[in-house]
Amino acid sequence: LLRQYWMPAALSEELDSDRPVVPVNLLGEELALFRNEDDKLVLMDRHCPHRGADMCFGRKEEGGIRCPFHGWKFDAQGQCVDQPAEPEGSKMHEKI
Ligand code: FES
Repeated sequence: LLRQYWMPAALSEELDSDRPVVPVNLLGEELALFRNEDDKLVLMDRHCPHRGADMCFGRKEEGGIRCPFHGWKFDAQGQCVDQPAEPEGSKMHEKI
């Protein structure tokens, strides 16, 4: 029911600081909030689906954020779009 209503999550100026990926707790969920290159807000699971690394320490890149542990990259919809250790042409990221 509460997901139908607006909730304050973070201050806008927090996203313009030196650490632009902000940890957010909403309705018991641990999330990471940042702005993408189009200035749109992105809210995603704080823990990487691979080994649970904290995405708040991730690196913002064009088109999304890269996990600080093994470098998987996720777009604004949470889809994995790159896995640096996978062989060229691998489609494994499409299933994540
Ligand atoms: S924990 Fe994120 S890529 Fe491995």
